[in-house]
Amino acid sequence: MATTEVMLARRAPNRLYIGGAWVESRSGETFATRHPATGAVLAEVPAAGAEDVDAAVKTARRAFEAGAWTGMDAADRALLLWRIADAMEARRDELVRLEVLDNGKRIREAEIDIRDAIDAFRYYAGWTTKLQGDTLPVRGNVLNYTLREPVGVVGAIIPWNFPLLMAAWKVAPALACANTVVLKPAEQTPLSALELAAIAHEVGLPAGVLNVVTGFGETAGAALVRHPDVDKIAFTGSTAVGRLIMQEAAGTLKKVSLELGGKSPNIVFEDADLEAAARGAYTAIFYNSGQCCTAGSRLLVHESVHDALVEKLVERAAKVQPGDPLDPKTRFGPLISQEQMERVLGYIEAGRAEGAELRTGGKRALYGGQEQGYWVEPTIFVGVRPDATIAREEIFGPVLAVTSFADEDEAVRLANDTVYGLAAGVWTRDVKRAHRVARRLNAGTVWINTYHPLDAASPFGGYKQSGYGRELGAYALDLYTQIKSVWVDLS
Ligand code: NAI
Ligand code: MG
Repeated sequence: MATTEVMLARRAPNRLYIGGAWVESRSGETFATRHPATGAVLAEVPAAGAEDVDAAVKTARRAFEAGAWTGMDAADRALLLWRIADAMEARRDELVRLEVLDNGKRIREAEIDIRDAIDAFRYYAGWTTKLQGDTLPVRGNVLNYTLREPVGVVGAIIPWNFPLLMAAWKVAPALACANTVVLKPAEQTPLSALELAAIAHEVGLPAGVLNVVTGFGETAGAALVRHPDVDKIAFTGSTAVGRLIMQEAAGTLKKVSLELGGKSPNIVFEDADLEAAARGAYTAIFYNSGQCCTAGSRLLVHESVHDALVEKLVERAAKVQPGDPLDPKTRFGPLISQEQMERVLGYIEAGRAEGAELRTGGKRALYGGQEQGYWVEPTIFVGVRPDATIAREEIFGPVLAVTSFADEDEAVRLANDTVYGLAAGVWTRDVKRAHRVARRLNAGTVWINTYHPLDAASPFGGYKQSGYGRELGAYALDLYTQIKSVWVDLS
């Protein structure tokens, strides 16, 4: 395998990137990041502690106050973001392969991640020159206008399921809005964030504007959340950690935006194009081996088409085999870690124990005929009761829970019967029903006759316990700016 080649192609040293320099962690501690297909160690990177985070935050604060970034002409800031995108594009293949190695996702999926990460930088480069205020018709002989200003130092904490893409979703708008950033990638996938730092360095982003600290959530992440000099935390990850972050952020009243878990319903009505719905339902749950916050993990199917749809799905799922994630022909990839594999297998046990009918999968999958890496077979349960654990909790793995319904009202009731509200899918040929149901679903994203597309231009985020704040689109500008009202007496 070309593993060594890819690792050699990396520009970034395995160090922390603070104040425009590559530095060792104060403690000297490191941790291993592994290739999930085999479990092989790829690299050791520093485990940042509170002191390292403090150094990164202080540097980001100084860079913010010094004004080289905030005071830069917007058009020049735009150019730097665009250059980051260009440099990513020039090294697209390396970034794709690095992401495949560090995360284990299939190369076809990593290609989409990198494309979308580049898009995010270009999209927000465009906004840099469009951050404008208003003049407002207040009482009196007064000029009142608003300024849209940066928030300050942004702490970005991201997950492992779409490493570079999640970094881009936060770093690009934060920088476009003239903030400075301390980025903490997930401990499972630190490498692409370091490459992003190397790219930012190469294109001449001023020192201290973007800092990357690799490390664990409970130490580096928590230190970032607690730090009094961080003005805002942008987080994507589990609902449990989102809750912790909110509590902890209360101490310094920092601003928080949270993109959390989901248990998204995917509804197939009796009038749907069943072939398309089967393909869509398959992708909805098995894309990225089910490790998507938006995974269509609850498939709700009208009773009249239930058996036909399940048959198509089972046929597809039973066929796929683990394959080298770097091989474009591979149709199925591993989970991120031993811990995640065990968690998912535990949910499969719960599904069985609570009486759902297992139709396919259900076991650890072998890669190259061996127990190596972190593979779980694509798994489908039918007859899942709405109160079953596998219908209520986010599994974050290739496990689909199928439940049937009798009519539209029941479908909507089942769909909304969850603490989450990230996304939902609707499959129908009836245009009125499609839009009616889209309105009735409590979810931040609704896909009709498709599943999973996202775009830098379109807002993304959760209802209910899936979080708050909207990333992407013009909406993300509200996460990374604050509004000042200026009053001028003209009398
Ligand atoms: P996690 O929420 O613990 O990790 C996400 C990020 O938060 C990582 O960078 C981690 O280092 C950081 N973090 C963890 N604890 C922290 C703390 N106390 N303070 C500050 N930062 C902290 O997710 P984990 O443990 O990797 O996965 C557990 C489950 O979370 C998964 O099975 C899945 O259900 C869910 N999850 C959801 C994601 C989503 O996109 N909605 C992404 C990743 C996980
Ligand atoms: Mg965790």
